Amino acid sequence: MHISFLEISTKLPKASPLLFLIGEDKKFPQALMALDKKAGGIMARAIADSKFAGKKKQFLSVPGIQGCGHISLIGIGKPADFKKLDALNLGGMLVDKINVLGVKTATLVLDLPKTGNINLIETATKIGFGAQLKSYRFNKYHTKQKAENKPTFESFTIAMKGAKNAIAAYKHFNSLAEGIYLARNLITEPANVLYPKAFANECKKLAKLGIKIKVLGEAEMKKLGMNSLLGVGQGSVRESQLVVMQWSGISSKIKGQKIEPLAFVGKGVCFDTGGISIKPASGMGMMKRDMAGAAAVTGLLYSLAKRKAKINVVGVIGLVENMPDGDAIRPGDILHSMSGQTIEVLNTDAEGRLVLADALWYAQTNFKPRLVIDLATLTGAIVTALGTSRAGLFSNDDKLANQIFEAGKKSGEEVWRLPLAEVYDKQINSEIADVQNLGSDSEAGSIVAAQFLQRFIKPGTPWAHLDIAGMAWSKKELDTCPKGATAYGIQLLDKLISEYYERK
Ligand code: BES
Ligand code: MN
Ligand code: ZN
Repeated sequence: MHISFLEISTKLPKASPLLFLIGEDKKFPQALMALDKKAGGIMARAIADSKFAGKKKQFLSVPGIQGCGHISLIGIGKPADFKKLDALNLGGMLVDKINVLGVKTATLVLDLPKTGNINLIETATKIGFGAQLKSYRFNKYHTKQKAENKPTFESFTIAMKGAKNAIAAYKHFNSLAEGIYLARNLITEPANVLYPKAFANECKKLAKLGIKIKVLGEAEMKKLGMNSLLGVGQGSVRESQLVVMQWSGISSKIKGQKIEPLAFVGKGVCFDTGGISIKPASGMGMMKRDMAGAAAVTGLLYSLAKRKAKINVVGVIGLVENMPDGDAIRPGDILHSMSGQTIEVLNTDAEGRLVLADALWYAQTNFKPRLVIDLATLTGAIVTALGTSRAGLFSNDDKLANQIFEAGKKSGEEVWRLPLAEVYDKQINSEIADVQNLGSDSEAGSIVAAQFLQRFIKPGTPWAHLDIAGMAWSKKELDTCPKGATAYGIQLLDKLISEYYERK
């Protein structure tokens, strides 16, 4: 989807459909009033003859208007209550409506009534961003798609006063959308196409944006003692990989003081069969998405580099395939992690934490980051607890946790914090090793998993863990995402960075 912003002159652009936003007061913007007058009051009559009341998500389209073709009205609810996220969702919603009309282009005349806490530029960019997010498609494997099923909408113009400023402001969102598209593609690709080396090859392409890429294969990881991560990939014929991506948008020294990077660590299990503790067949196919954390880290790095963000960030992703095999790890096996701690594997399906243990340790020892945030489709239990509207947040640092919570509310990618505590930590003491990868009671599965990760966080390092198992994929159409991969986390972390960490 191509998004553009056009300065409104005295004349309206010659385009069809022309879209207008209408509040519950049903007041017409000036331009629409003039148009409607010329057309003999057809829009006013159309409203009177329909259910359209300017409510959120309402849409009314009238074709065949002389001189301008199609006019569509989009409800925004009470103008005084209209917020940034409403604008984002409205942008997404109108994509489906325009596709139903079957046209390639549409022009929104943004002549806004007085709205709540959002200005014209923000409204314009958020609507454009929502439309771009919602128009994502993954259809490279459909060889026989019927023309009538293909979406038509390709180019969206927002006509407004101050278009120049909107164009400048939109650069950020365009980079973000490209990063999100990249992550959604990675998540959607099946595991026979996107195995660890193939994923690493996709990461290497980010070098063209100025990202420094390092890829470690099994031999290098073996040397570093990353046997926890390697253990998970041991049953697969596909070689495990660790990808390190570095974006340096500012000098690492300010007034002689060293500024350490932020670190993002992602779980990249390209396919999770469960291993020897094999999963049931139903739904196993979903486990090609078990690398959504790694995909979000990759997409985030992409978008930061693309918009030349003034921040230093490192992304570390552990890429493996969890397969049952003669060589695979067994329940009861003990692994020596890079941190020196030994791990008793009680269930080979609790593999994400094994991958993260070494990836987290690698990130901390190599970069001494200011903070570490990991993203992982870690537990089914988080879906039971929080469903599909919030990711689980765990943190050893209240300030960081609050920042993530606020960034969640602002970006619309929300989180909910769950506790970490001694009583849960006790559950992973092993009888035979330092730690075990399963709780002793089958309770509080998501918290126990987070406690396991915390065993691999160095004291004094602010750390947050996002369990995104319920968020990485949507079975339903969402306002700003078609069914399928969401790339959850990128908007959240971009907001966190731009709001609290990026140099202005
Ligand atoms: N990848 C799964 C978690 C998952 C479940 C992600 C559903 C997305 C949707 C993870 O590796 C896993 O298998 N977790 C186990 C942990 C258990 C063995 C302690 C689970 O949640 O059942
Ligand atoms: Mn698993
Ligand atoms: Zn998994």
